[in-house]
Amino acid sequence: MKKYNEYPGFLKVEKLATCGSTNDYLRKNYHQYEGDFPVIVTASRQSAGRGRSGRTWDSPAGMGLYSSFGFILPVSVRLNLLPLAAGISVIEALEEISGIRGFGLKWPNDILYDGRKICGILVDNMVQKESVFCITGAGINLNRQRVDFPGELRERATSLKIITGKTYEIEPLNKVLSHIFFSWIKKLERGGDKEIVGEARRLSEFLKDKSITFHRGDRIETGVFKGINHDGGLLLGGHEGDKKIYYNGEVEINE
Ligand code: BTN
Repeated sequence: MKKYNEYPGFLKVEKLATCGSTNDYLRKNYHQYEGDFPVIVTASRQSAGRGRSGRTWDSPAGMGLYSSFGFILPVSVRLNLLPLAAGISVIEALEEISGIRGFGLKWPNDILYDGRKICGILVDNMVQKESVFCITGAGINLNRQRVDFPGELRERATSLKIITGKTYEIEPLNKVLSHIFFSWIKKLERGGDKEIVGEARRLSEFLKDKSITFHRGDRIETGVFKGINHDGGLLLGGHEGDKKIYYNGEVEINE
């Protein structure tokens, strides 16, 4: 892990003991960091961690990694691929620090192990004139035991500790993730769409032809996971052999 001993030299690092939400912190303090991007804001705990679709992200100290990357991209990049690139990066970083394989990507960017969620990613983009201010936040369950998860999460979530039995320090994972994440962002900026989609397809192969339910707001649709479109969209197969493409929403795996 030598090559990842430090944060990348180009990255501004902001470490906070406590914070509402690292994504919100970056959005509110955008002007303070202008000219300093890219930046990582990492907190030991969050008091108002946010998940996707208005959910909360439980973020107790010492139990997980709670970090957000803030960076600028040109408007010309395919932003639909950013959540996939982030998911791929987390999987590679988890593989690097744990030595284990078998993490899966559930479109667009949930990381699963044995069907349980170990990481969630929240992407907030603010489109400006010629550029986009991107905030990509990751919450990774590291040191929780099953009993530490509240109620309904106990069955649906997992952690690196549950998987390997070991306890993990947070900062080394932050460093590894920073290197890997920005190497995928570079690919995104250079038009490496095919590589990103190819890797996302490989990591979500375990879901191929499985029954899923797609949720977006009030819309709920059951179908079959047919893979990821070349532009990052979800391919949902219908009962009559038809295929639909969705760009925003959540996938639930049916038992
Ligand atoms: C999800 O799966 O619903 C996304 C969870 C994202 C949680 C991370 S923790 C760091 C960053 N700050 C937040 O408030 N949320 C993200």
